Amino acid sequence: MSDAAAEIEAGLRALGERFREAFARAATEQDLRNAKAEVLGKSGDLTKLLKLMGKVPAEQKKSIGEQVNAVKADVESAFDARLGQLARALREADLTARPFDLTLPGRVPAPRGHLHPVTRVKDEILDIFRSLGFEISWGPEIDLEANNFEKLGFPPDHPATDMQDSFWVTVEGGRPDARVLLRTHTSTVQVREMSTHTPPMAIVSGGPVYRRDDDVTHSPMFHQIEGFLVAERVSFAELKGVLTAFAERLYGPGTPVRFRPSYFPFVEPGAEVDVGCVFCHADSEPAAGRGPRASCRVCKATGWLEILGCGMIHPAVFEHCGIDAEKYTGFAFGMGVERVAMLRYGIPDIRLLFENDPRFLAQF
Ligand code: PHE
Repeated sequence: MSDAAAEIEAGLRALGERFREAFARAATEQDLRNAKAEVLGKSGDLTKLLKLMGKVPAEQKKSIGEQVNAVKADVESAFDARLGQLARALREADLTARPFDLTLPGRVPAPRGHLHPVTRVKDEILDIFRSLGFEISWGPEIDLEANNFEKLGFPPDHPATDMQDSFWVTVEGGRPDARVLLRTHTSTVQVREMSTHTPPMAIVSGGPVYRRDDDVTHSPMFHQIEGFLVAERVSFAELKGVLTAFAERLYGPGTPVRFRPSYFPFVEPGAEVDVGCVFCHADSEPAAGRGPRASCRVCKATGWLEILGCGMIHPAVFEHCGIDAEKYTGFAFGMGVERVAMLRYGIPDIRLLFENDPRFLAQF
């Protein structure tokens, strides 16, 4: 026998069954692949023997070649078998492992949330009115056209119904003469309360309202606070007193308040209320009425910020709600909550409030 043939046969004997033990010891797929490489890799034991084949004389090539190939096939099939075993063991461990306990607290404590800035401001405003003696009441976000417009004195097709560009709701099997919409303001609560209660009453309400509007200062959904008071001999003086007290509690003592005549179909007279600009007043001479400041972009250098609409409840509204307009008078006011929050926190774009980006909301 040639030297090369003898060397190969000796090598095969030396290799023997060692690879089987190595494969059995391999605990992971990586271990197993390493063990295989020691036999069949570039400088593996069997590869080295194969390299000697060239030197084996032709008449011995067949028998030596067969022996080498048989060992090689053994190595491959032992490898495949062990690989399958390892995969099954892994899967088995996975299936029989204790299930994840989703109720365990995380290692990093969950960050505590806080109320949304709009909710905070809304609650604060409601609290001020509650402390002034108003009761809280809630109304639905979907309401009848009559409660949102007609009973408040908007004639059918009044331009104001356009102005507030409503979201109409189709009610399956609903009555055509009882159209339904997402309320465009919280004044619906006035109608509902006055239709079901007898004066005296002082009520405040708040919640989402909807209009087809969408820009940096308007969102299709925003929040309003509505307040109204009905009793005998209520005058504009009480309205001024209540709203001035409110402005001082929200913006600080001495906050200037002014009433400008304005129009809403459900009040007469009606007014818009401005407060002295909370941004530029600090720099102004008190004698100069706290502004205007030429550089203030928030109040556009007027020194005033509009915060709400108000007025004496129109006698027609009382009549629509079954309240004796000869006996009772009252006032009502309504304001946007986002506007107060934007002024309070210096938020330039209303849409930021509703994108729910935690990087933004965490700042409040
Ligand atoms: N409902 C009015 C609006 O949304 C605000 C308002 C309420 C005005 C009550 C006067 C009295 O614009």
